[in-house]
Amino acid sequence: MSRLVFITGASSGIGQALAWQYYQAGFHLALVARRTEAISEWALTQGIDAARLRIYSADVADTASIVAAGQQCLQAQGLPDVVIANAGISIGMDTAVQTDIDVMAKTFATNNIGLAATFQPFVEAMCTRGSGTLVGMGSVAGIRGLPGHGAYCASKAAVIAYCESLRGELRSSGVRVVTICPGYIDTPLTRQNRYSMPFLMPAPDFARRAFDAIERGDSYRVIPWQMGWVAKLLRLLPNALFDKALAGRPRKRRVDEA
Ligand SMILES: NC(=O)c1ccc[n+]([C@@H]2O[C@H](COP(=O)([O-])OP(=O)(O)OC[C@H]3O[C@@H](n4cnc5c(N)ncnc54)[C@H](OP(=O)(O)O)[C@@H]3O)[C@@H](O)[C@H]2O)c1
Repeated sequence: MSRLVFITGASSGIGQALAWQYYQAGFHLALVARRTEAISEWALTQGIDAARLRIYSADVADTASIVAAGQQCLQAQGLPDVVIANAGISIGMDTAVQTDIDVMAKTFATNNIGLAATFQPFVEAMCTRGSGTLVGMGSVAGIRGLPGHGAYCASKAAVIAYCESLRGELRSSGVRVVTICPGYIDTPLTRQNRYSMPFLMPAPDFARRAFDAIERGDSYRVIPWQMGWVAKLLRLLPNALFDKALAGRPRKRRVDEA
């Protein structure tokens, strides 16, 4: 019997690449985004078998909306084997600008509350079944705070800590929690960046490696591996050296910033 994967943020970038990777591996797909027409067009272009795909419209920043999508999936396709909370946004911020506090709130609502709410409808049923994998999309940006990127870095640090908490909670249930931390992956999210992106990786290559890590049930994986070493070094770097290394680096674009 075919396995089922539920992926948020499947209308673009990493989510779309993961959807293709799982499809090729024989999975049935439950794909979620606000732009469902983008998923439909992609499915048509890729020649996806309609019997193996359902598309759910949801805004992960609205708890009722994403929980309803999860419940619809349970009814229409059953309990997924893998749930990937991938939807996320990345916008620069300046704490001196009042409207950027709203940007921070939206970032947390999407990247953090949205991630937990994506898992919520499936946790109890997976525990009862005694199997399943919940995947949280973190980031290397969650390891240290980057100037101008406070909302995103804080949100991804929270993803890493939250998933670790959940992993401990579910340890004896048979349900795995996998945290994937991408480095720089070539997607619409990174194409606007005005700074250098070491070890930039094409999304299909990332998806292959993430699939393998999820199948193995790795608790935590940085992809590509080179960024794993960068992440380890970043953790060790004393604050003074870290601050000096980052000084003057171009910052992530704020809302409406050219
Ligand atoms: N690309 C990288 O280098 C990189 C590095 C580290 C971490 N990540 C993380 O990887 C994930 C995917 O990023 P990406 O690079 O693939 O970005 P992307 O191409 O911009 O795609 C983001 C996806 O998230 C969905 N999304 C955003 N807000 C949403 C909301 N409120 N409700 C539902 N869906 C929403 C979007 O769908 P709709 O707009 O259609 O709703 C889209 O499918 C994010 O969590 C990101 O932080 C990416």
